[in-house]
Amino acid sequence: MNIVNLHDKNLYYIGGVVRDELLGKESFDIDVTYVGNASDYAKTIENAEIIQVNDAFGTVRILLEGQEVDIASTRSETYPQKGHLPVVENIGCSLKDDVLRRDFTINALAKSTLTGEITDYVGGLQDIKNKVLRVLHDESFIDDPTRIVRGLKFAVRFGFDYDEHTKKLQQDYLRNINYDMSYKRLKKELEETFNLNSDKAFETFINNGIYKLFTQHNFVLPKIKISEIIDEYKPSCVWIIYVGLLSGVEVLPLTKREKKIVSDYRMIKDKTFMSDMEIYHAFCGLNLESILMYAFVNDKVQVIKRYLDYLSKIRLSVTGQDIFSLGIEPSEKYQECFDFILCEKFKNPALDKMQEIELVKKFFEII
Ligand code: CTP
Repeated sequence: MNIVNLHDKNLYYIGGVVRDELLGKESFDIDVTYVGNASDYAKTIENAEIIQVNDAFGTVRILLEGQEVDIASTRSETYPQKGHLPVVENIGCSLKDDVLRRDFTINALAKSTLTGEITDYVGGLQDIKNKVLRVLHDESFIDDPTRIVRGLKFAVRFGFDYDEHTKKLQQDYLRNINYDMSYKRLKKELEETFNLNSDKAFETFINNGIYKLFTQHNFVLPKIKISEIIDEYKPSCVWIIYVGLLSGVEVLPLTKREKKIVSDYRMIKDKTFMSDMEIYHAFCGLNLESILMYAFVNDKVQVIKRYLDYLSKIRLSVTGQDIFSLGIEPSEKYQECFDFILCEKFKNPALDKMQEIELVKKFFEII
């Protein structure tokens, strides 16, 4: 790994990037930390332009050889308000103290930018080898319950499992949740986890009671393999399809579109549709995500396939202008006429415009 062209005895790659390299995975986010004051260090780097300094967090962004690099000072943190952002305590602390504030041992490895040597204060190397997720201390989930979802994300992404003690700490927390937590941070982790589109993640989320982090409403797991249908239809917002199935999801700071997906899903959730026309009218204009959620919760994949693969693709050629040209004054009858032709087209999609106009005439009895 030589992602940053910076080499200093006090400068380390840290966290996810070291973990990912050891696992042979690509890392998108390169964290580097300086043992000491990063902004003082940045001033000494030849040809580097300092773009931004955040003294409160001890971070600095530089431009070096056309590349933007964020350097963090080592820091220790405390969580005076459990479940919220930590407070930075000691900027420029030792590497060990910086490492000890972190979530899992696998995320607490540091790699020297100078020698490439890995510093492991917490047994992270061994845990990577054994595919184990282990928190660094017993207060970890109390300080920051979003780590429970992070654990699920890493378990799914890497095929790792919690060690027994970490499992127990998670269960203890989920039995006694402090709801005064940052739902913004929780949402971010839920998004990253469920965008992985894993049935296993959802099963664990429900069976292990992780959903209790934001709702008390239990949920019965669908029989269907959700991930396969998602892979087939490729909706743009995957995470909400899973998490939005649970009542109480609105405590999370949802976007306007996510809110609409959930409310549309709730609107159709308990309905049954007998005819193509009913299916068409129920789903027409809804987001793909809401339609998929309907299928999962009602075990109705065939119904939504009928809509998505067939009914939704049928287009009428005849327009309001065509009807008007036949001397018919605009009224609500136009819509009824379109539905009538649509119904015929569901049965015979090969109907051309002339045939559609014949159907208009039939509808208005002008032949
Ligand atoms: N971290 C933590 N507790 C959290 C979030 C992050 O201790 N709730 C620490 C971990 O050491 C983590 C590092 O901060 O490795 C960087 O966090 P982030 O970029 O969110 O996670 P990554 O480990 O890089 O994971 P990902 O690949 O999902 O970005």
